[in-house]
Amino acid sequence: MNKNAGIVGLGVCVPEKILTNFDLEKMVDTSDEWIKTRTGIEQRHIADENTFTSDLASKAAINALEDAGIKPEEVELIIVATITPDMFSPSTACIVQHKIGAVNAAAFDLNAACSGFTYGLTVASQFITSGYYKNALVIGAECLSKITDWKDRNTCVLFGDGAGAVVLKPVDEGRGILSTHLGADGSIGKHLTVPSLALEPQELEKRDPENPRTIWMNGSEVFKFAVKIIADATLAVLEKINLNIHDVDAIVPHQANLRIVDGAAKRLKFDNNKIFTNLQKYGNTSAASIPIALYEAVKSRFIKNDDLIVLVGFGGGLTWSSAVVKWYK
Ligand code: ACO
Repeated sequence: MNKNAGIVGLGVCVPEKILTNFDLEKMVDTSDEWIKTRTGIEQRHIADENTFTSDLASKAAINALEDAGIKPEEVELIIVATITPDMFSPSTACIVQHKIGAVNAAAFDLNAACSGFTYGLTVASQFITSGYYKNALVIGAECLSKITDWKDRNTCVLFGDGAGAVVLKPVDEGRGILSTHLGADGSIGKHLTVPSLALEPQELEKRDPENPRTIWMNGSEVFKFAVKIIADATLAVLEKINLNIHDVDAIVPHQANLRIVDGAAKRLKFDNNKIFTNLQKYGNTSAASIPIALYEAVKSRFIKNDDLIVLVGFGGGLTWSSAVVKWYK
């Protein structure tokens, strides 16, 4: 009989340097008060100029492997979810494979923006439940500071850098990842863009011509989408296994904005105190946000063994993803 995939190791890495809202007041026309009341964010960690996504991802991966008691050479699959790869090729996953010495692992990147970690978890868990691989490393890692326009107050106050990693292995029935749900709507992808090779005129006109390959976002459209999709994706993933919101002990959402979390909690009629947030300290770290939050939720015992938890992400694409996990580690 097929086994579920379960999270057996967790690790994180964030850069040392902290950029506070007060630091940002000196860079753009903003205030600590505005950022805190509109987003909840108080500070974010920013990588130095010589640190890239693979550096943060590799450190998080090593920590997760240590936590799981697995040697790098035993790893069979590495998936890195990121929108800030070091290079187009090799993939960040291949760079991580080399850096950590996971010489026997297959490796590839996955781009689903802020939904990327739960997308990666879903893909990796298929390999585990089918028996194709005995373990997998799923990493969400970003250096968003490198694609941020530091002159644009609409976006530069929101993002941070970091990485979180988990190790998946087969676990006993009734534990681990019980259900996942993925979605995308490319027709509204225009609300959150980062140009690469194609610099379309409509993308260029929104940006500093000197620095066009930066994040641009229609904040209010993404906000409305996010509140609705967190609720919808949470209910959809529960419904797949005949559970409902009353069965849930804790939700770990993508960490973008406290007002989005509050809005989603109201929509779900779910107790806000059971939703974990740490965006106050890290800002929005895109694909890294859920694994960093999960790590802290577990370490602080916000999540305990036998809790039923929902991980839920939304972001560029636009995309969304959710997972129900019976926590046991
Ligand atoms: N400081 C001061 N004022 C600001 C700032 C700032 N940092 N940023 C914007 N403003 C101003 C705007 O210019 C606007 O002024 P105006 O009315 O004179 O034009 C005013 O504040 C209100 O702007 P809104 O965009 O309406 O502010 P809102 O309350 O919607 O908050 C925010 C903006 C925080 C961006 C919000 O819309 C949001 O969180 N959106 C979702 C973002 C998100 O979750 N993204 C997730 C995906 S990210 C990814 O996938 C990489």
